[in-house]
Amino acid sequence: MRSDQARPVKLSDYHVPDHRVTNVDLLVTLHPTATRVVAKLTVERHPKGRPAAPLAFDGDELNLVALTLDGAVLAASAYEAMPDRLVIHLPPAGPFTLTIETMVNPEANTQLMGLYRSSGTWCTQCEAEGFRRITYFPDRPDVLAVYTTRIEADKAEAPVLLGNGNLVETGDLGNGRHYAVWHDPHPKPSYLFALVGGDLASTSDRFVTRSGRDVALRIYSEHGKEGRLAYAMDALKRSMRWDEEVFGCEYDLDIFMIVAVSDFNMGAMENKGLNIFNDKYVMALPDTATDQDYAHIEAVIAHEYFHNWTGNRITCRDWFQLCLKEGLTVFRDQEFSSDMRSRAVKRIADVRLLKAQQFAEDAGPLAHPVRPELYNEINNFYTATVYEKGAEVIRVLKVLLGPAEFKTGMDLYLARHDGDAATIEDFIACFAEASGRDLGQFFLWYRQSGTPEVSVEGHHDPKAGTFSLDIRQTLHPTPGQPTKQPMVIPLALGLIGPDGAERPLLTEDGQSVPGVVALTASRHRFVFTGHTTRPILSINRGFSAPIRLTTDLTEADLQFLARHDGDAYNRWQSIQTLASRFLIASTAAIARGDAALVSVPLIETLGAVLNDAGRDPAFTAQALSLPSEADIAREIGSEVDPDAIQAARLALRRTISDQLGDELVATLSGFAAKGPFAPDAAAAGRRAIANVALDLWAANGTESRLAEVERRFAGADNMTDRFAALAILAQHAGTRREAALGAFYERYGSDPLIIDKWLALQAGIAEPATLDRIKTLLANPAINFGNPNRLRALVGSFAMTNQTQFNRPDGLGYGFLVDVVLDVDAKNSQVAARLLSAFRSWRAMEPGRRGRAQAALIRVANAPSLSPDVRDIVERSLG
Ligand code: PHE
Ligand code: ZN
Repeated sequence: MRSDQARPVKLSDYHVPDHRVTNVDLLVTLHPTATRVVAKLTVERHPKGRPAAPLAFDGDELNLVALTLDGAVLAASAYEAMPDRLVIHLPPAGPFTLTIETMVNPEANTQLMGLYRSSGTWCTQCEAEGFRRITYFPDRPDVLAVYTTRIEADKAEAPVLLGNGNLVETGDLGNGRHYAVWHDPHPKPSYLFALVGGDLASTSDRFVTRSGRDVALRIYSEHGKEGRLAYAMDALKRSMRWDEEVFGCEYDLDIFMIVAVSDFNMGAMENKGLNIFNDKYVMALPDTATDQDYAHIEAVIAHEYFHNWTGNRITCRDWFQLCLKEGLTVFRDQEFSSDMRSRAVKRIADVRLLKAQQFAEDAGPLAHPVRPELYNEINNFYTATVYEKGAEVIRVLKVLLGPAEFKTGMDLYLARHDGDAATIEDFIACFAEASGRDLGQFFLWYRQSGTPEVSVEGHHDPKAGTFSLDIRQTLHPTPGQPTKQPMVIPLALGLIGPDGAERPLLTEDGQSVPGVVALTASRHRFVFTGHTTRPILSINRGFSAPIRLTTDLTEADLQFLARHDGDAYNRWQSIQTLASRFLIASTAAIARGDAALVSVPLIETLGAVLNDAGRDPAFTAQALSLPSEADIAREIGSEVDPDAIQAARLALRRTISDQLGDELVATLSGFAAKGPFAPDAAAAGRRAIANVALDLWAANGTESRLAEVERRFAGADNMTDRFAALAILAQHAGTRREAALGAFYERYGSDPLIIDKWLALQAGIAEPATLDRIKTLLANPAINFGNPNRLRALVGSFAMTNQTQFNRPDGLGYGFLVDVVLDVDAKNSQVAARLLSAFRSWRAMEPGRRGRAQAALIRVANAPSLSPDVRDIVERSLG
């Protein structure tokens, strides 16, 4: 955390740095506990900085060993060196060279920020403010410098030495030591710095860019795991080609490297030319990875690679602009996956994630704008709002402008701001200019937090032949934003005749309108003509705007749309809405003490979907996946009783299992695996529908059905099918479940990434005994819970996905999470803060749970010596 700025940090306080660094020469002598860093910096005053300002560089737990200015040792009175700050009182007016020597201890670095060790490999993580844990520096993204890095190490300990840019020199130092020098010609901010040293295996390939640059590609992993890198390499090459073809972005160095490490706080990091990845997003073989893992690897490989332009060539002026690179890069990776796979299915999966993560965040105390204006701790802003809503906002822009103007704006942005540290204003100005439109109201998507609520009512007048829509939007207050302005909301829509045919959209003056209307005010009326019979409205097609939508569509309308809507996303949404409305009603019945409800139309619709599974298996799998307990809780919104939701959902699953047994069996046999495993989208879609059908078929818990699942578990020839069967068995208490879990551990106990699946599965079991199971697992000495992936798999999954057990009425789930957070906070505050954010929906609970959650949060707030990360989350959660 930076000490040179007051907390909270405000966007409105932005000023250029007083001093900038244009050149960085690093000498890093790797040692497990005492790594020496000599940084030779070319420093100058910023022409727009304060003229007589002292030089003030950031630090974090640093130890200064030596300091010279233009080669001369500085008098002790001329500067002040603290662990978190270096101040030189009267720096020269002209450019000068500062040589700073610091010592750092990678072994002791459990925060995994700065230089640390993961399974013996030295690696770095500098975003957002980690470079200051390596040397004193103006550690902010608007200071761009050219870096040269010389790494020295013991040959046996670190035969592989990697840095940013191109390799320019290697050599022997005698005494079993060696060195490598890397030079990155592209000026970059310090957060994109990286180095790696270790004994690593690798796989290599090449890629020739469209202008003929021959790029070496290399992916590194621990020894013994190099056989799992082929899919990542394939995804990388496809990403490089796609970015040239679709965005015109070409790679700009002679080598591109990815290093997989096992200890990593986040998913992956886009360091220039040297991406460092959480190994879970790199390694895959059919026997170790599920189809979902493959899809995530493809997306994350692409995401980090795409940052080379959106993030690295054009970086952010300050951290408030984080969505400039993240929202845009998520948008780009979503488009890539859509082109590689099924666009409709990808859209559905993305919207599911958006609603589960971002809508939940937006509805609670941690809500913040896509571009925040204030933060206490930037680490806590790597959120679903910045990433996923940030991507949605770009999609909204594209819908508003249309693809051609969107592309012109994007091209202008890439050309105009190459080499800049830019802002959201810079970005939007390119689209305003390209389209000639005023994007002032659009900008509210970046400034106003919360999810807009849109209600739609249709009125048919058969005599006049009109169909009119009355639409209203509201945006509720969110933290720090008591009043809101109306947003510009593009709604893609269609009107469908009872024969299933799409009707033209004609206005009262006979004009034909394209399939999008844009809301700009709080109320609108749109009148369409030519409807002597009532059309069925399909609106917010493709989820054209990230809103909460309520319509007056009847159950029959939704059933009709589920079958006939030409928009695949809305076919899916109609089924979800049907299921969701039903489950909310059934939950209410159960909460009143009545029996769960039964819905004939819903079962009929699901049956029809099943019979049509051949059309698009992956789509059908999505259509048959009911809203989750958390989805229903979010729709209910307040006074939530998770136990009633669970009962309603389980009852529906049993009904489906009982009443659609034949259709489910037919689907199961129709999509049984044929031929050898392939990870492509079509094959994955067949596995997905088969496994969803298996899950629903077994949901009534019949002995014979569970025995069949057990048989499939034992006989599976790939991880997707094996794990799907295990997940089904895990829902049914008894010896069968324990035996399967035991067999799985037996087989994969030495493979940490697979153990994560096993941990997450058990953390999600919706039974009161789960908390004790988790505590026992957490005490297992064979599992290293110091590793963030292990901890998140067990404790994170429990808190984020197990609705009934995390929210136990006795509060023990909350208490457990607090114990873990307080324990982890001292070692890894970023991971602790993320775990704590599982309380983000606590206010939506019924009063009993709400009181216990509040007490748990107060216990955190009162704990001695909290990290700034956890303090920030707890204060905002209670705020
Ligand atoms: N910038 C990374 C990304 O691609 C995420 C990240 C943030 C990784 C901070 C590490 C630390 O999204
Ligand atoms: Zn990113």
